[in-house]
Amino acid sequence: MSGKSYTKTIKDLSPVLYEHIDEPDRAVYEVRRGELDLKTKTCYDETTIFNGLLGVELPKTFGHYHPRNKEGYFFPELYTVLEGQAWFLLQKADKSNPKVIQEAILVKAAKGEKIIMPLGFGHLSVNPEKKDLKLANWKAEFDNDYQIYESLHGACYYLLELKDGSVDIIKNSFYEMVPELIKVKPKKLPEELKNLEFLTKPEKYLNLLTVENCFEKI
Ligand SMILES: [Fe+2]
Repeated sequence: MSGKSYTKTIKDLSPVLYEHIDEPDRAVYEVRRGELDLKTKTCYDETTIFNGLLGVELPKTFGHYHPRNKEGYFFPELYTVLEGQAWFLLQKADKSNPKVIQEAILVKAAKGEKIIMPLGFGHLSVNPEKKDLKLANWKAEFDNDYQIYESLHGACYYLLELKDGSVDIIKNSFYEMVPELIKVKPKKLPEELKNLEFLTKPEKYLNLLTVENCFEKI
């Protein structure tokens, strides 16, 4: 690890939270940036999402979309769960209207599993347990685009904890169209993807990077 790290607080996340929370300086998650791997041209980061509800909302990251590579294909990303259990909320928007969502997917993953973020999906990570969640991710060298999540007050769904401990999933009314949320778990990472070339050259692996190949319904 390069040692570079930053912490996101309640105040930093306030544009995407379900409700106002009066603890601006509380840390929600911490990201430790790794060095660029010169062989694979990928970056490795670790993120810890701390235990603790955000009001009634499950602790989460801000959410972002990825840019396209120079061949014109959106960059995918690869995650693994280091500690805890992880949920990933994925959404694919209409090309001309980010308020219209075509696909919304909730991926539930356990410690040790690998999870691909398929091409064109915005995503955020959620900590559904009462303990810290630690994730690692590999991606090509690019900057995330947070703007759509910021302007639409978060993802197309909010995950809220009810008094009995169950989770209520409600649509974000700033979106115009939100499909039913599909719940899935990750499929095993194919051998062909283990060299990580798909992160920089997704166009060579399109047949493996479909939603159907990455996930199975639960
Ligand atoms: Fe990402």
